[in-house]
Amino acid sequence: MRSPTRPQDRPAHHVPERQRRVEHDLLQTVLASFRDTPDPRLKVLMESLVRHLHAFIRNVRLTEDEWQRAIDFLTAAGHITDERRQEFVLLSDVLGASMQMINVNHEAEHNATEATVVGPFFVEGAPEISLGGDMTGGAPGEPCWVEGTVTDTTGNPVPGARIDVWEADEDGHYDVQYGPHHTAGRAHLYTDAQGRYAFWGLTPTPYPIPHDGPVGELLARTGRSPLRASHLHFMATAPRHRTVITHIFVEGDELLTQDAVFGVKASLIKKFPRQEPGTPTPDGRALPAMTWTRVRFDIVLRPTPATGPAEKNEE
Ligand code: BEZ
Ligand code: FE
Repeated sequence: MRSPTRPQDRPAHHVPERQRRVEHDLLQTVLASFRDTPDPRLKVLMESLVRHLHAFIRNVRLTEDEWQRAIDFLTAAGHITDERRQEFVLLSDVLGASMQMINVNHEAEHNATEATVVGPFFVEGAPEISLGGDMTGGAPGEPCWVEGTVTDTTGNPVPGARIDVWEADEDGHYDVQYGPHHTAGRAHLYTDAQGRYAFWGLTPTPYPIPHDGPVGELLARTGRSPLRASHLHFMATAPRHRTVITHIFVEGDELLTQDAVFGVKASLIKKFPRQEPGTPTPDGRALPAMTWTRVRFDIVLRPTPATGPAEKNEE
């Protein structure tokens, strides 16, 4: 038999006036403790954090057992985190916080390429390939010819832009998941004088985010899938332009609407038409016995911003 006094059984709007005042007074006392914070931005952040945290505790009438489980969850996330595994970023990803950070800090600007999550598998210093080169490093999968341009928002080509690309193989694994000394499915290249680039990669396939830790358990307990929509990662960098970190997604992929980290944006969904074996390839590469795909991705970079992101937000 449930006790009628359990906090979670009492809707927030049924809290008696006297109790409401006790809770309100505590909130005011905590807010006042930050009144003399010398850094005005830190003051804003701490006050807003305290308001939202107290509102959460009070609105759901959080139990002590639930609070302890939250502490245990964060402790487990800390224990599994090391220099190769970052469970807190993964948590931010599955809560949509990473994508909301991108929305807030990288506002879509008319024709500029939209950003999405970086993910945990970017590695500095990927090998350079020439234009039309092969970034797969022998990783298994269906070949995909990727081509496009890098221009600025007024349509001028950006020659010498650096493009980093990385992706999982057809088994859904990035090279780093096989061990620290294996490099495949990643490279960088530079645009030519007309801002053009092209390379051979792999047709993207779906794969799960790392789900053998507390975040995976959270997904399982909430009936959510760890799968990401098929994608190919890009980072484009050029002097006097704002770096864009993004992916392209495969039109028709069933997971586009259920991406585990909410990374899909309509502008990043591209056609990857499949070519019959023996179809002549753009660079004359012989692929007589297998299908291959091709995709076009034109990247538009914004000029380096003069000011930082807006500070005010809607709740
Ligand atoms: C990825 O696309 O590589 C990725 C993104 C977020 C979380 C895990 C993986
Ligand atoms: Fe990825």
